[in-house]
Amino acid sequence: MATVTGPARYPLIPWPRSLEARDGTFALAAGTRISTSEEGNADLRRLAGLLRGYITDLAGVDADIGPGGAITIALRSDAPAGEEAYRLDISPERIELVARDARGLFYGVQTLRQLIAASPKAIPAVRIEDAPRFPWRGLHLDVGRHFFPVEFIKRYIDLLATFKLNTFHWHLTEDQGWRLEIKKYPKLTEVGAWRKETIVGHARRGPKGYDGIRHGGFYTQDQALEVVVYAAERGVTVLPEIEMPGHSLAALAAYPEYANVPGPFEVRTTWGISEEVFSPSEATFTFLEGVLREVMDIFPNAFIHIGGDEAPKKRWKESSAAQEIIKREKLRDEDELQSWFIRRIERFLNANGRRLVGWDEILEGGLAPHATVMSWRGTKGGIAAAKQGHDVVMAPQEDLYFDHYQADPEHEPLAIGGMTPIEDTYAYEPIPSELTADEAKHVLGPEACVWTEYMPTTEQVEYMAYPRVLALAEVAWSTREARDWESFRSRLPAALGMLERLGVRYRKPL
Ligand code: ACM
Repeated sequence: MATVTGPARYPLIPWPRSLEARDGTFALAAGTRISTSEEGNADLRRLAGLLRGYITDLAGVDADIGPGGAITIALRSDAPAGEEAYRLDISPERIELVARDARGLFYGVQTLRQLIAASPKAIPAVRIEDAPRFPWRGLHLDVGRHFFPVEFIKRYIDLLATFKLNTFHWHLTEDQGWRLEIKKYPKLTEVGAWRKETIVGHARRGPKGYDGIRHGGFYTQDQALEVVVYAAERGVTVLPEIEMPGHSLAALAAYPEYANVPGPFEVRTTWGISEEVFSPSEATFTFLEGVLREVMDIFPNAFIHIGGDEAPKKRWKESSAAQEIIKREKLRDEDELQSWFIRRIERFLNANGRRLVGWDEILEGGLAPHATVMSWRGTKGGIAAAKQGHDVVMAPQEDLYFDHYQADPEHEPLAIGGMTPIEDTYAYEPIPSELTADEAKHVLGPEACVWTEYMPTTEQVEYMAYPRVLALAEVAWSTREARDWESFRSRLPAALGMLERLGVRYRKPL
């Protein structure tokens, strides 16, 4: 037996499904060769190059790529079954990584990377068979409240993929800024991507005034496509979110004709919820379908997020046009009008082969027939939707909102509120006990949210996201039985070392 086994010898996050410790180590040396099972395969070539880069950075030796190497990366039909699964065999003589798809190989390379980082020249022998617990392992980023450059978006994706998350939820539109170029509606970014200034201090704690600094920016369609490709190379799906009917003031500043009152409107300069929402008119649907058509052209994945949260009903109550629709469609109230609105959008997305995701408010007034629910106001919405046979993503704010404080606010930079220390995220169980085994199959997985009202810089985003993302990663990937706080804590220093090396401005646990 090896003298050191388990987490200390293999400081992996997330912990793999099965790990057999082995004696001995594999020595990395100059000229160690990496081979692939199919030389002409572009995915395999890219993965071999990725691994070579990690070896150079972490072990300080230059590996070769070519046939007959001691390290092999292979697509094989006898690899562990299941999407994203892989097997990694390390002996003193050789390293063999096999999977049935490139995503599995990518995760195997990440596992190997963590082992090399922890022990650069002498990689501990081991046999790992690994696969994720959940197919949806999400991390969100709000680029509406603050705009972040495309280079940072790529870095964010690279980091989440390092810890085997696979869904990047790109929250692209807000009251405070519209961030995606739409060719049919150019004012969305000419007007909607810019606000004249931003509130200073906490919006709920008395006025401190405004900073007087214009803020904004947007992603061109070419940049967004570049992000999609970059993400796909790391096994990551990009989930775009276009908010409706609420959180749409930036769009209404650009196109006031889709509001319920004449306007004009300004892109919002403070936080909180605006009364202004899209009108439920035919003109609005034509507009939104035009926007979503371009969104679907950029983002190839099955799911499109349409928001649906925090839409005040005041304007619809006061609008004769909205009230006409309620009467005509025999709807009970404005909640059912929102439900009718979302159903129309769902029909459009489904007709184009896509699936609609919305925040749990889309339950109010009745769920659209095929909608997937993202449960943020606790888990009640997710439970209700799963019981109705709908797929759900669990993002309860208590445990998975990384805009919350992670320690005593007295010693932390200003945040929106709440308190979600890393221990709480780690303890979060995505399958609610209220669900039967069959209902639980509708839980696609967990997702953490990073809302950026109080994160004006990329440094602040990384400070709030890390190290909590590491806890999320283990909740999303590892088995329930494997989840053990003391074990996680013993592996955390290695992961923090990795973050350190990558220059991530994470919050240092006390
Ligand atoms: C949300 O936090 N309003 C989804």
